[in-house]
Amino acid sequence: MRGMNAPVHLPPRTPTPAQLTLARRCETDEAQAPVTSRIAASAYTCPDRFDAEMQRLFRMLPVVLGPSAMLPEPGSTMTHDGFGAPLLLWRDRRGTLHLFLNACRHRSTRLLDAPEPTAAPAIVCPYHAWSYGPDGRLKGIPRRDSFPGIDTARLGLVPVPAAEAGGLIWATPHRPQAADFTLAIGPLADDFNALGLAGMHLYARRTHRVRSNWKLIMDAFLESYHVQRLHRNSIARFFRDGVTASDTVGPHMRSAVARVGGLAGVDTNDWPALRRVVTYTYQLFPATVLVASPDYVNLMVLMPQAVDETLVEDFMLIAEAPQSDEARAHWARSWALLDGQVFGTEDFGAAEAGQKGLQSGANSEILLGGLEQGIAAFHASVAAAIG
Ligand code: FES
Ligand SMILES: [Fe+2]
Repeated sequence: MRGMNAPVHLPPRTPTPAQLTLARRCETDEAQAPVTSRIAASAYTCPDRFDAEMQRLFRMLPVVLGPSAMLPEPGSTMTHDGFGAPLLLWRDRRGTLHLFLNACRHRSTRLLDAPEPTAAPAIVCPYHAWSYGPDGRLKGIPRRDSFPGIDTARLGLVPVPAAEAGGLIWATPHRPQAADFTLAIGPLADDFNALGLAGMHLYARRTHRVRSNWKLIMDAFLESYHVQRLHRNSIARFFRDGVTASDTVGPHMRSAVARVGGLAGVDTNDWPALRRVVTYTYQLFPATVLVASPDYVNLMVLMPQAVDETLVEDFMLIAEAPQSDEARAHWARSWALLDGQVFGTEDFGAAEAGQKGLQSGANSEILLGGLEQGIAAFHASVAAAIG
């Protein structure tokens, strides 16, 4: 494992060249080609397909666990179990984040239950009180004399490969042979640093249990065709109809979604002004979505549990902790609109309704139009990764 330093001081923020290019393409791209494609319904319903995805994607590739802001304080720890491996996240007193398996090296007892951050200079196993420090080192064994000949230096907590960059915590929870964080600490971190993610405050987090295949949820964030329809009573009025420009960063997708107003007259180096007319979204392969609204960011971490069940943890990040009742009321409205209605009811509701329809056998394939080809590209990436 490598230690990870959370960035504290960041340079003045401006859009990255890639973000600027996407914004300009929203204005200039020709209408989307009138092309259709299809995806087999079994991609969402077949248990064997689901098992292959777990093995080849979620057990092999880096996944996002959450924002750095979910464990901001030095000297604190929390547990994470959404990807099936028991993880212990521990930020030491210098701010460096460490990840370990949440299991004692004596007889494997689970060490801690802490889904929320908790201050911890040390962790003591509840069974026989072996104790560990934030760097994972075994610090103490009661009745040490009864363990002759053991090498305590080899009995530290088991490290989990991870990287903290751009305000996100990435990890390979199942410790594959090789873990490649190159894109996470490189071009993606550049974009997220431009959005100021690393310095943001976690306003709220909530885990939704969605009764659908995880890819149906990703699909909702890979096209803007539905925004004027499904979201007609919530956010439709903020957006133009299906005006989106996208590119890729390895298997990850990045999109600029045009809001009403357009770029005309906007100084594209005026980042707040640009974000008022363009919403940037990131589909981080395999299963994380980031949506950068004008003044806050939602990060959604999808954690598949079964072929037809997914946990989605929604994090809302804002520039700083609210200082007044007015600010608290403002952010409460944003949280209720996005987490409560747009995602929690509309997008996740559509995914659940889609799963029911797929399982009915009504269609052996689903049909994608010209505004939905981001979904086709994503499914092609999944298919390629599982071989
Ligand atoms: S199992 Fe942890 S101290 Fe014994
Ligand atoms: Fe949506």
